[in-house]
Amino acid sequence: MIRIIKTIKEMHQIINNHKDRQHTIGFIPTMGALHEGHLKMMSMSAAENDITVISVFVNPLQFGPDEDLASYPRDIEGDMSKASSVGVDYIFFPSEAEMYPSEPIIEVKAGRLATVLEGAERPGHFDGVVTVVNKLFNIVRPHKAYFGKKDAQQLAIIEKMVEDFNHPIEIIGVDIVREADGLAKSSRNIYLTQDERAEAAHLYQSLSLAQSLYDHGERNSETIIKAMRTYIEEHTSGHVETVAIYSYPELVEQYEISGDIFISLAVKFSKARLIDNIIINK
Ligand code: PAJ
Repeated sequence: MIRIIKTIKEMHQIINNHKDRQHTIGFIPTMGALHEGHLKMMSMSAAENDITVISVFVNPLQFGPDEDLASYPRDIEGDMSKASSVGVDYIFFPSEAEMYPSEPIIEVKAGRLATVLEGAERPGHFDGVVTVVNKLFNIVRPHKAYFGKKDAQQLAIIEKMVEDFNHPIEIIGVDIVREADGLAKSSRNIYLTQDERAEAAHLYQSLSLAQSLYDHGERNSETIIKAMRTYIEEHTSGHVETVAIYSYPELVEQYEISGDIFISLAVKFSKARLIDNIIINK
């Protein structure tokens, strides 16, 4: 039976108990409104570890003042049955007061990796992410933690944090789970109107276009970015905020492509801001 745990104290006791019994622990941090992208990581964890813990916490620290903190979808009942169906043992579901009993004084800074792409568009976002993930790692103390490549920059930053802060945790990057038409699954897709939902499949098409240009030998970033922008502008009503090519996981902008890269985009529709990317290994 899946159990909901609301306090850090109880989570610590449960984890201590499992560690005493030599159980391995897999952990998937989420903000809830679970979809198949989340569930895939949970199934992987259930297969690879004795115990699987997830967290459901909409972390206010990582939302900007004009972002969707208040309207972010919340559905703990639905999350519980979905998580239960893929073998999750515990849901850590703390209140805001439990996580932040007072204004945090000491925060973790994501540094240079947070100055580009999503970090540049959303100031403070990745500092909020690494601060909460650092706390969650200390609360759950997992052996393995799973993060989606959907948020490739977040994954790169978490890997660096684990290295810099010596967390004894193996980070597993999980491939993006997509809808049948290619749209990356996201809790925010519900903000799309029906027309926008149909158009949104073209975001993935624009990434496929980039992949095919690359496969045909194109190595000039500007050429690929221009083709993607034009494609998105012609096929959707969204506003293109970012199309960019960066090295991965170092996150340095690439003009001529040589090594491993990721091509990322952020497009703003009427109510939803969607991100997607592909990672291309040399
Ligand atoms: P959230 O957006 O709920 O995502 C939780 C995890 O699910 C992240 O690692 C994200 O990359 C992954 N994920 C989301 N959509 C996916 C998809 N379509 N395919 C594969 N993985 C997908 O990311 C966060 O929450 C927060 O920043 C968090 C890490 C929980 C810190 O608050």
